[in-house]
Amino acid sequence: MPATIGALRESAHGETRVSLTPEIADKFGKEGARILLERGAGERARFPDSAYKNVAWADSSAAVLAAADVLLTVQPLTVAQIGQLKASAVVIGFMQPYARAAEVRALRERRLTSFSMELVPRISRAQSMDALSSQAAIAGYKAVLIAASHLQKFLPMLTTAAGTIRPSQVLVIGAGVAGLQAIATAKRLGAVVEAYDVRSATREQVKSLGAKFVETGVSAEGAGGYARELTAEEKAKQQEALDARIAVADAVVTTAAVPGRPAPKIISRAAVERMRAGSVVVDIAAEQGGNCELTRAGEVLEHQGVKIVGPVNLAAELAYNASEMYARNLFNFLKPALSKGELAIDWNDEVFAQSCLTRDGAIKHEPTAKALGG
Ligand code: NAI
Repeated sequence: MPATIGALRESAHGETRVSLTPEIADKFGKEGARILLERGAGERARFPDSAYKNVAWADSSAAVLAAADVLLTVQPLTVAQIGQLKASAVVIGFMQPYARAAEVRALRERRLTSFSMELVPRISRAQSMDALSSQAAIAGYKAVLIAASHLQKFLPMLTTAAGTIRPSQVLVIGAGVAGLQAIATAKRLGAVVEAYDVRSATREQVKSLGAKFVETGVSAEGAGGYARELTAEEKAKQQEALDARIAVADAVVTTAAVPGRPAPKIISRAAVERMRAGSVVVDIAAEQGGNCELTRAGEVLEHQGVKIVGPVNLAAELAYNASEMYARNLFNFLKPALSKGELAIDWNDEVFAQSCLTRDGAIKHEPTAKALGG
């Protein structure tokens, strides 16, 4: 029997993305799967119902949840929604395994198979499935636009009849996927860009984008290419060098993160107080507690003339492209498990094995299992 792939009109506050776009619904159709969508699923991402061809519609999320063999989501399902899935259902989406204990437990208790897009291994073969990267790139881009719109300055240098305008200085802290896109965006807009990351491998990447790397003498390579937490001594040394650069920046975009941990605090109140009035901090790590001591998630505040912006779910602000990219990531992930439209997961495939969060009544991702007490 061909699998029914379902997608909901996302119900989480502020979520405008959709997990299935018309392009991808069509591609799954060609793979032999059936598609069932909740009415209005793509509306807020500007994919009207009329854009989807050869799909079935349901009037409620409950009807999709009850019928789906595979449910594709953007945000984690609620405990109530998990309760509505059929016993054999497979759920694929962002699961926020480190933050959503009740939901992970509910998935385990219902013995559902769930895959967390956060856990897709960062190997070459899985790049086309890397939803953390596709959505982080959007966040990095958007963060610079937010900074630019709050500044009372141009980003580029301008030579005009009214004289020369100096370019703005942008500092990007954290040069992962989001940070690199922030650097590229600020450069395209003509700013003078500096960047910093604890991973020394980023030095060359930063330079190749035409930005200057801030040298602090601290390196913090961790497991799997991610950063580790720094020691107190390392933090002090990093801080001193960075504070000097923060003080002269017009805009600081912070993206620093350590998986499963609160965001490292990199900009202190004192550092903000050294910045010029009119400067801006855009803190992409706001949802994980923020890289700036003063950040409040979802708010724009002003401290001694410096604006501190704590955006949440930036990818949802570019819902059209974000959904396109995310849906393609999901398709690339699921396609190898579809054979003539039927679901057949190869558990020897490391991508499926490593990104599996729950299965057969167990939490398969060890750090999450440990955090939830086995
Ligand atoms: P992330 O979102 O976990 O963190 C963002 C950045 O913050 C990272 O570059 C990290 O080094 C940096 N950071 C952490 N603590 C910091 C501190 N105290 N000060 C300054 N910077 C700090 O990272 P993301 O963007 O998800 O990338 C994680 C790793 O995965 C990187 O090594 C990246 O190159 C790699 N990657 C590999 C891919 C592949 O091969 N398929 C695809 C995407 C990423």
